[in-house]
Amino acid sequence: MEKILVLDFGGQYDQLIARRVREMNVYAEVRPYSAVPLDEIKEYKGVIFTGGPNSVYDESSPHYPKEILTLKVPILGICYGHQLTAYMAGGTIRSAGSISEYGKVELRCKKSKIFDGVPEKSVCWMSHTDYVSIVPEGFEIIATTENCPCAAMCDEERSIYGVQFHPEVTHTEYGKQILHNFVFGVCRCKGDWVMDDFIEKTVEKYKKELEGKRVLCALSGGVDSSVAAALMSRAVGDRLYCVFVDHGLLRKDEGDGVERVFGNMDLNFIRVNAQERFLSKLAGVTDPGRKREIIGEEFIRVFEDTAKSIGKPDCLVQGTIYPDVIESGKGDASVIKKHHNVGGLPERMEFERIIEPLRDLFKDEVRQVGLKLGLPEALVMRQPFPGPGLAVRIIGEITKEKADTLREADAIFRGELEKQPLDCKLSQYFAVLTDTRSVGVMGDAGTYGYTVALRCVSTDDFMTADWTRLPYEILARASARITNEVRTVTRVVYDVTSKPPATVEWE
Ligand code: XMP
Repeated sequence: MEKILVLDFGGQYDQLIARRVREMNVYAEVRPYSAVPLDEIKEYKGVIFTGGPNSVYDESSPHYPKEILTLKVPILGICYGHQLTAYMAGGTIRSAGSISEYGKVELRCKKSKIFDGVPEKSVCWMSHTDYVSIVPEGFEIIATTENCPCAAMCDEERSIYGVQFHPEVTHTEYGKQILHNFVFGVCRCKGDWVMDDFIEKTVEKYKKELEGKRVLCALSGGVDSSVAAALMSRAVGDRLYCVFVDHGLLRKDEGDGVERVFGNMDLNFIRVNAQERFLSKLAGVTDPGRKREIIGEEFIRVFEDTAKSIGKPDCLVQGTIYPDVIESGKGDASVIKKHHNVGGLPERMEFERIIEPLRDLFKDEVRQVGLKLGLPEALVMRQPFPGPGLAVRIIGEITKEKADTLREADAIFRGELEKQPLDCKLSQYFAVLTDTRSVGVMGDAGTYGYTVALRCVSTDDFMTADWTRLPYEILARASARITNEVRTVTRVVYDVTSKPPATVEWE
């Protein structure tokens, strides 16, 4: 299988580079520079050096044996990687001091294999202080910007390139084209890699590494843990145990839905009904932070008890995906995530190993894997649902009665939205049970019931979100059905706040 190596020198965008390459159907893997011996470089069709926060002359800055330049494997250095390439080949690097470039900058480029199809002037994304001031012997400058005398260089004979800007980010107008030129024009890749190869490779890897091991997977029914479970099941078969904890704060019919999908697979699926346990711990608690803590803590306890009942498993599978890794900070990422994914799991449990088979993939890639593995589309494409469940959507004290009320209202709203395809983008939609009671009238009698808020947002990344302009008829139908069918609700309101200043969830 042809592969591109993304040699990581500590850049922010390393996985994005790999992703861009994978989008071209060429397998790319990110590996720390210190973990790849020189003699493995020849296994790759090409190497991309990532950016990084250092300066090449710093004592602690990451370096790589310069013999890599003689291996005849094409190289593309990006940002720090560009400077490092110049440095290794005998060039000089300077600090631009106060005129460092950051943001969108006009790029002027000359003819070169990597600029094939790129106009003479275009926009690129820069983020640097140091720059290559003298290019090494054998290299020529192939692009400049107003403040950067060497925005790109190459030694076309040796297939070594360097770009000061970031072709992997969308702000670089012809970034994809440049990477495409490197991967196909320079490295001569064919582009025949597909997601099936990822599945096959991952399954083979864990088949070998986990021979004879018993593996536990905390399955929430969400996309990531479901795909991780299905994938690992192919690798370890009946040595995989999947534990699904029902904390009583799931959406309507969710537990049964998860069981329907996974109960019939060879996953040793264990559904733990811990509703009473969670609700009694939450009784009387109104502080949002405290609710989360209680749920996180109780989750660990339930999980521990269940793990005990099936013996001592050797490894734990988690559905960590790449954006989680970035959020948790690189380097120590796996340590942080193992506590985060399912609310605190498994600080005090001992596992030989934590397995995160999806940690290099983005959400849409995880979805592709899920579909390839045969998981139902409805599960693979589902909207996110927070770990603490309805607890962050019931304002004030949580009771079973409130959870039941919210479940009904939420199911009606979601049902109305899912009846027909809409023009607007629906990223996440749900109902919230507020702690405001309000007066209503039913027949001749006055009522005093709950106020339900409906929330629907459109977003690409959930970091910011816009409230969705839903058609009035849908809101009207949802409101009428909720107040008719859920007797304890007298009023329905629609949340018209974006993020920021609000968050998606109410708590
Ligand atoms: P916020 O409310 O922070 O939500 O704007 C952004 C996205 O994150 C989800 N969310 C959570 N997911 N545990 C989770 O697994 C949590 O505690 C949590 N809080 C928010 C939220 O549903 C939205 O998709």
